[in-house]
Amino acid sequence: MHVKELLSLKAKVCLVTGGAGRYGKCIVEGLAEADGTVITASRNLEANQKVANAFRERGLDVHALALDQADHASVLALKTALAEQFGGLDVFVNNSVARPMKGYNAPLEQWEESMRVNATGMFDLTREMTDLLIERGGGSIIHISSMMGMFGPDLSNYEGTDMGDPAPDYFFHNAGLLNYARYQSHVLAEHNIRANCISPGGLAAAEIQPERFVQNYTKKVLCGHRMANPDDIKGVAVFLASQASAYITGENILMDGGMHC
Ligand SMILES: NC(=O)c1ccc[n+]([C@@H]2O[C@H](COP(=O)([O-])OP(=O)(O)OC[C@H]3O[C@@H](n4cnc5c(N)ncnc54)[C@H](O)[C@@H]3O)[C@@H](O)[C@H]2O)c1
Repeated sequence: MHVKELLSLKAKVCLVTGGAGRYGKCIVEGLAEADGTVITASRNLEANQKVANAFRERGLDVHALALDQADHASVLALKTALAEQFGGLDVFVNNSVARPMKGYNAPLEQWEESMRVNATGMFDLTREMTDLLIERGGGSIIHISSMMGMFGPDLSNYEGTDMGDPAPDYFFHNAGLLNYARYQSHVLAEHNIRANCISPGGLAAAEIQPERFVQNYTKKVLCGHRMANPDDIKGVAVFLASQASAYITGENILMDGGMHC
């Protein structure tokens, strides 16, 4: 098959959870530019609709649906909407994240809230979405983890800032995704479903990243001494979504500009 065909997502229905968020928007754009039909879903339907409209104005096939992954009824409603409106699902990008926990000494309730969305909700959602992939004869699951799911915090990045108390839940649930993808690879292989992870580094976001943090961080990045830009994740996501990665499952791609190599 020609490599352009291998990378094409034509006629593929792709769901990106949290597609109105920072990395989510980049992933939606990449999958849609590869000719996929892309649905972005999270709690704020209006925000997702706005993102979908902006991409549709550029001729991309992007749609919005509502999803609260902490709410089983909402997960089931999304499943029904995907089946009825789009005929099912071929690619599922598990990208949503809730960040309720504010540091090591935060109340346990914040940890529990995080697990409700990032562990229990994530599992509920992936199990229900997998049914749709099975009905279509297979597909690709992509978990968006983080380099923080692979390594402990590098506290020197936070020197000179007030960011030095990283939330522990984030390291816990992102690490879990790596082995959950391996688990899924084994139990879903008979259904022609692949499951992989992308573990990105920090995406440039001037509004939340103090200059000192960016300086501390980027001097360790081999690729251009910079934060990730919106294009960096697009190709990785399209690759893992498409037939170009048909012989890859249970894998994790670290996308950190060489910071940890
Ligand atoms: N931004 C970064 O620098 C960075 C770095 C490494 C990894 N990541 C990973 O990328 C992914 C996206 O992160 P981001 O920074 O773009 O996040 P973000 O905060 O910009 O967006 C997160 C999205 O998740 C959605 N969400 C939260 N709770 C939800 C729920 N209950 N149901 C449905 N949707 C819900 C939000 O509405 C939002 O759209 C995450 O998996 C994160 O771990 C991000």
